[in-house]
Formats: sequence, C-alpha cells, structure tokens
Amino acid sequence: MTHTRIPFGGEELGPLLARRTHRVRSDAIRDILAAAAVPGMLSLAGGIPAPESFPVERISEVTERVMARSGTSALQYAPTEGLRPMREALARYASATGAAVPVDRVMVTSGSQQGLDLVAQTLLDEGDTVALDDPSYLGAVQVFQRAGAHLLAVPGDRNGIRTDILEERLAAGARCKLVYVVPNFHNPTGAVLSAGRRAHLAALADRYGFLIVEDDPYADLTFTGERLPSVDVHSDRVIRLMSLSKMLCPGLRVAGLVAPAALIPELVAAKQCGDLQTNTFGQYVLADLLGDEDFLPRHTERLRGLYRGKAQALAALLRERLPQLSFGEPRGGLFLWCAVDDARVTADALYAKALAERVTFVPGAHFCVERDGSHLLRLSYATLDDAQRREAVDRLSVAFDKVLADAG
Ligand SMILES: Cc1ncc(COP(=O)(O)O)c(C=O)c1O
Repeated sequence: MTHTRIPFGGEELGPLLARRTHRVRSDAIRDILAAAAVPGMLSLAGGIPAPESFPVERISEVTERVMARSGTSALQYAPTEGLRPMREALARYASATGAAVPVDRVMVTSGSQQGLDLVAQTLLDEGDTVALDDPSYLGAVQVFQRAGAHLLAVPGDRNGIRTDILEERLAAGARCKLVYVVPNFHNPTGAVLSAGRRAHLAALADRYGFLIVEDDPYADLTFTGERLPSVDVHSDRVIRLMSLSKMLCPGLRVAGLVAPAALIPELVAAKQCGDLQTNTFGQYVLADLLGDEDFLPRHTERLRGLYRGKAQALAALLRERLPQLSFGEPRGGLFLWCAVDDARVTADALYAKALAERVTFVPGAHFCVERDGSHLLRLSYATLDDAQRREAVDRLSVAFDKVLADAG
C-alpha cells in the first residue's frame, strides 16, 4: 500500500492539545529571556544566581570523592523520595530554620519548581482556589493556572502578604485550599513576611483548614544576617519548599520539600509519575555540601557579602542616575522592585526603549495577578559585574529620557 505522507504543523496540533495548555501563556517571558541572551545585551532581567557564587572548587573536589568511593551507587537509580543522607541533611537544615522535622516528612525534589508542581498535582482540582500575594513568583502562578486553579490575589507590602485582607476575604466567605507565600526576600518584591503576619497566617490556616505553601529560595541571602523562622513553627499545615538553587547551585536540580507526614506518600506518587527520582549524583554531591558544618556557614556568609555589595551598588547608581525610580532599601535576595514615579513612563515603554539601548529587565506586570503593574519593574542585580552594572544603568537612563522625549 502506498501512503502519502501528510505534513504535521501547528494547525494540526491545535485539536490534539490538552485543555490545560491553553491556561498558561508564557510567550512574553520567553521573549524577555530570549532578549536577555542577545549578544551585547546587559541583563537586569533574569533571576539567576551570580556565576561567582557557585562553589566550583568544592563541588569538583566532592565529585571526585563521590566517584572514587560511591561511583556505581551515584550513577544508579535511587528511591523516589530521595537518598537517605540527602533527606537527613535537609531535615537538619529545615529543623535549624523552623520546626523540628523528622526525616520521614522530607522528600527530595528536582528543584522547588517540581515541588510546586507536585503540590498542584496532588492537591488541586480544576476550579480550586489558591490565594497568593499579588504580585507573585511567575513560576508558581503558571503551575497553579495550568492546574486550572482560581487565583485569589491578596495585596502585599514590604512586610509580605496582607494577612488582615486575607482574613477579611475568608470572613466574607472566600475559601481556598492553599495559600502560597515566598516569605523571605520575595520574588519579585523583596518583601519579608513579618513575624506577626507569619503567626497570623498560620492561625488562619488552622481556623479555615487550608495549607500554606512556603516557598523559600532566598532566606539564606539575608544582608543583615537576620532570618525569621519558618511559618511551620506556628502550624502543622505548612508545606516548605527548600530550594538550594540560590544558596548552592541550580544546575544539579536538587531541592527539599517538607510536608505533613500524611501528604508525603501522595507527593511521592506524583513524583514517581513525573521523573521517578531526582538526579542521584547531584544528591550525593549536595548532601555532602549541605551537611558540611565547616563549609556551609562560610559559604553563605560569602554569598551575603557578594549580593549585599551588588545590591547596594545598583541602588546607589539608580539613586544617582534614575531618581524617578523608587524602591525600598534592599534587605536580601536578588531583586530591586522599582516603581516609576513619572506617570508618562510606563514599564512597557521603558522596556521597548531599553531593548534598543541593549539593556533589559522584567516589566512588573508579568508578576501581577490583579494589581496594576504598568509602572513597576523588577531589576536583578545578581549577574552583572561593576563595569557592566554602571553601563546598564547608563543605558537605562538613556532609555528613560527617550521615553520622556516621545511623551513630549
Ligand atoms: C520564588 C521561587 N520559587 C521557586 C523557584 C525555582 O527554584 P528551583 O531552582 O529550586 O526550582 C524560584 C526561582 O527563581 C523562585 O524565585
């Protein structure tokens, strides 16, 4: 039988795609990241760690040791919930920064991003509500949207999600299964959830029966050394996502998740469907680093100094060259969340001119659920060196003047 091959393209794909693929539009962010990769572009856009933050020598040394001593096991399949030494190291880390956690409440995930996805797959049916502070981490918003969740946007400020407003909404009849927070040096706002609001949120979770998803990749990057304990010291209804991407490195894709004991088998079942397990070799390496009480405090101290210096340098340049941008004093993390104090200059107009000047950032609207982000922008200070930072701010200032000139 002869068969005429029928070409397969975008039009043929449409009817085959699952409905959930229509719920998330990621084109804008893809374009922003693509623009950041253009040669000659100076990027204040990406939320990626500084290359000089990675403990490259220490990781090469552990790699050799792991290969010499445990090479065959490190290259083998491993349990879905994670290797015991990695889970133990994560349990010690969690217990030192929140409620005491036994190993059986800890699992390893392929980055916190997978943790978010497992939580969504395990707990959310279409139409369920997730409350979150507005603006929020885009990667979380996309996971919840793809799961078909309804988002209940709660305003936030420098002290994190407004738990008083959340309480009002709940008292008025709103119900949610999850409340999602980034408690320390929030992405994108840099906010730190205050001690009072942590306790309040926990009390609301206990009263209204929802779970709190505490996604915390930036806690160790505190510039003052101050670090509030995890929300789980106040309530058992907390799922903690412990990314190691900013503290150690993102490339090995190893993170920790702490959940109520009853939920762990469900999350493990979801993970089994997704990827069977997290990278065995990466777990060997990162368990060694996370468990090294000599290395880890010195390393985190170095990172704090590194990012503190970068943040302060960017803040000083912006105050000098772009006084029309206002932002809070950086306290930790990777981002400055800026408001444009001139109604004629929208973040989108500035973005378009900035690209032409070969500097890029993320317009704030991409992180906003309901809030008007048209005059907000996120600037990352993580990756540029001193000369690049100076040049980036020069270019941004030129772009700003060009928007003003266009506005007449
Ligand atoms: C708030 C937040 N959660 C999760 C992630 C993803 O972390 P991971 O690399 O552990 O998947 C990021 C990455 O930027 C983030 O900012």
